[in-house]
Amino acid sequence: MNSPTDDWFEGDLSPSEFRRLGYRVIDMIGEYYASVRDVRVCPQASPGDVADVFDEPLPVEPRDPDGILDQWTQRVLPHSTHLGSPRYFGYVNGSGSMIGTLADALAASVNMNPGGWKPAPAATEIEKVTLRWIAEAIGYGTPAGGILTSGGMMANFTALTAALRNLAKHDVTRLGIHAPDGGRFRVYMSDHEGHVSIPAATDLMGIGRDAVVRVPSRTDLSMDVDALRSAIVADREAGDHPLAVVAQVGSINVGIIDPLEQIADVCAENGLWFHADGACGAVGGMLPEKRSLYAGLNRADSVTLDPHKWLYVPYECGALLVRDPERLRRSFSMSAPYLRGSIPAEDEGLDYYDYGPQMSRGFRALKLWMTLQHYGVEGYQRLLRQNVQCAEHLHALVSQADEFEVLHEPVLYIYSFRFAPASLREQEPEATEHLDRLNQEICDQLRRSGEAFVMSSRHRGRVVIRLSICSHRTTPTDIDRVFGTIREIGQKLVS
Ligand SMILES: Cc1ncc(COP(=O)(O)O)c(C=O)c1O
Repeated sequence: MNSPTDDWFEGDLSPSEFRRLGYRVIDMIGEYYASVRDVRVCPQASPGDVADVFDEPLPVEPRDPDGILDQWTQRVLPHSTHLGSPRYFGYVNGSGSMIGTLADALAASVNMNPGGWKPAPAATEIEKVTLRWIAEAIGYGTPAGGILTSGGMMANFTALTAALRNLAKHDVTRLGIHAPDGGRFRVYMSDHEGHVSIPAATDLMGIGRDAVVRVPSRTDLSMDVDALRSAIVADREAGDHPLAVVAQVGSINVGIIDPLEQIADVCAENGLWFHADGACGAVGGMLPEKRSLYAGLNRADSVTLDPHKWLYVPYECGALLVRDPERLRRSFSMSAPYLRGSIPAEDEGLDYYDYGPQMSRGFRALKLWMTLQHYGVEGYQRLLRQNVQCAEHLHALVSQADEFEVLHEPVLYIYSFRFAPASLREQEPEATEHLDRLNQEICDQLRRSGEAFVMSSRHRGRVVIRLSICSHRTTPTDIDRVFGTIREIGQKLVS
């Protein structure tokens, strides 16, 4: 740290020292990006090992910045999982654009807080225009507004809270969640592919995880809309309050898109909020060849979309798009004299704390705004298409290999399949538990090898191998390599 001088302040680095350290950091990041294609995808260390690496007392004496930066290379990187690797296929985690990295550094430098317009005029207007661009790009249409969130979970929570605050017959904001007649609020999603963030959201809202009604799905795992209609009728007859339907737009295990047009009809007929959870897949609306799957999305009251997933923007960046932003304001607006002043002033801009549950907020929009300009719609279309082609390529490999079982057609970039040699498949259901353990072991061994990061999931109750191929760096060659290793591990395990 510098000592205070006439023209500098304790607590800041001098301009020349800042530049020297900054160039050093850029070199560190540049070296990382140069090696990211070949890096060991995740560390071999256990949680306890990693905890030991960082377990040290609170620093009391100031430390030298070079020594602090050394720790990045010595301790942080060796114990990191590399979501930017082209062979990282875990959860639904994005790869992170390079320009987004630079944007994050710039955003941090001015330290804007787009909770309110006054502390962040440019950031607020950039967030507005960026949300409008995304809505247009995916075919949600304009006018639309919304808010950037920490991720899909918070976007879903914000949407369903807005549904409750806008549609409940009593004033939930003031009186709380209990309907005066004792009826329970109900939120509908498909049974197999509905995402865990929905019951987590209803739990946070105080209407309970059991508020989520699992609607039976069809053979392709999309929602059965006849079953949805029946569930709504049954709940009304029981005195409950149907509130919202959550459609999956790119589901977690198979990337399915629910029948959006039909769900929109049901919501319109019943006065329900139509929320599309497109955390994984809404971005696919940018592909003209996939657009027909998205018919009806433009009728959703709200759409979740995660730029930190399939738009390759660095964490954190989720988005909620809404048809009518006033419904967000009605749900979240706060007033206090220290926020806006008690006397109305001219030129009040949008205060984003009125649109969601967060007050202070980071300048997430910058990395999204810059990444959208960097790739443009055309660049995105090429990259998204490459991900879809990788999933199709994997499907072709699985279909052609006897030891594997095809479970579904690829829709977008998420693909699940099973290692199930004919000799074992013929012995099902007795052999199912053994096959479950085999598939789990394949994923675990692959991860331990450092070659790729793949996780298991369940498809109709059976353990499966699941790849989420949403890295802008993944090519069919990576898919060949990973499939070859999966096959090798599987063959060794059964031999
Ligand atoms: C369909 C769906 N919705 C919501 C989420 C939650 O998103 P986040 O992890 O960004 O909070 C996910 C995460 O994978 C998801 O797949």
